[in-house]
Amino acid sequence: MSPTNVDLAVRVGGLTLRNPVMPASGTFAEGLEKVMDFNRLGAFVTKTITRELRQGNPLPRVVERPGGLINAIGIPSKGVPYFIEETMPHYAAFDVPLVVSISAPTTEGFADLARELSIPGVAAIEANISCPNIEEDGKAFAMSVASTEQVTRELRAATPLPLWVKLTPNTGNMPEVARAAEATGADAVVVANTILSMAIDLKSFKPCLGNIMGGLSGPAVKPIVLRHVFQCARAVKIAVIGCGGIATADDAAEYMLAGAAAVQVGTATFLQPAAMTTIIDGLRAFCLHRDIPRITDLIGGVVIEEADEPDLAWVNPVS
Ligand SMILES: Cc1cc2nc3c(=O)[nH]c(=O)nc-3n(C[C@H](O)[C@H](O)[C@H](O)COP(=O)(O)O)c2cc1C
Repeated sequence: MSPTNVDLAVRVGGLTLRNPVMPASGTFAEGLEKVMDFNRLGAFVTKTITRELRQGNPLPRVVERPGGLINAIGIPSKGVPYFIEETMPHYAAFDVPLVVSISAPTTEGFADLARELSIPGVAAIEANISCPNIEEDGKAFAMSVASTEQVTRELRAATPLPLWVKLTPNTGNMPEVARAAEATGADAVVVANTILSMAIDLKSFKPCLGNIMGGLSGPAVKPIVLRHVFQCARAVKIAVIGCGGIATADDAAEYMLAGAAAVQVGTATFLQPAAMTTIIDGLRAFCLHRDIPRITDLIGGVVIEEADEPDLAWVNPVS
């Protein structure tokens, strides 16, 4: 008999979510409540919070390119007290787990922030380790196995909450970095942050962004990040949360087939503010049409013939 409903619940990184769809950090704000029912979301994920008050990068901070957006926002932050006093009460009104994204320039800074935010009302910490590590070489923590291990270990010791670690696709070895996060205590990895990129203004010959370079997001990155999700999901046992260019239910289904246990939606929300609820409805329809009773049946369901199984070290099969 065909199912008449679909169980959309997923277990991800220490949390049970009513469905696998949540916002990507930095692309979601309280105002979206006007266009969608927040109680339908799998989780909330906040804009990355830093301890210090930050202005963010010089203007312009965003430029559009075909199929994508390049941003160099630079994590403007109003700090922790503002978050606890002003932002958290707003989210408390909904029956949706609150995942708080944090960032710091040092391992100790990350640990302090995780400790400070391990408070009632926060369901999980998402560590955005795609930011520069000023104690090392200034490269993002998630660029290397060693810095990822170091920061994840400190974070693990600092918080009893589920710990999600958000990786960067700019490293050459994401599966190894994902493994490092798993080995040192992450409950899930988020794959991924934006892809380093650039645009030049042909009138002035100057870079379009005040920061010169920025991170590419949107449909243009989807095939690349999908590949990262596929490789990371085969490298670790913890949940992989897919994030990159998801705009439709088909995109989300593709990510889940590649191995994602849940998905985050970012840039699509700027074009279609209610994209996430449309994706949730679409995922239900996707499963119903195929007689799939549980959304979890999709996870890692990509069909690979044994003979075609790629090696994890497989990087560039074309050239
Ligand atoms: C305007 C903008 C701001 C962002 N701010 C953050 C942030 O504060 N923290 C973070 O971890 N990622 C941030 N991101 C990255 C997104 O969370 C996401 O990883 C990326 O955009 C890829 O997903 P998408 O293609 O669905 O947008 C930002 C992205 C955009 C476009």
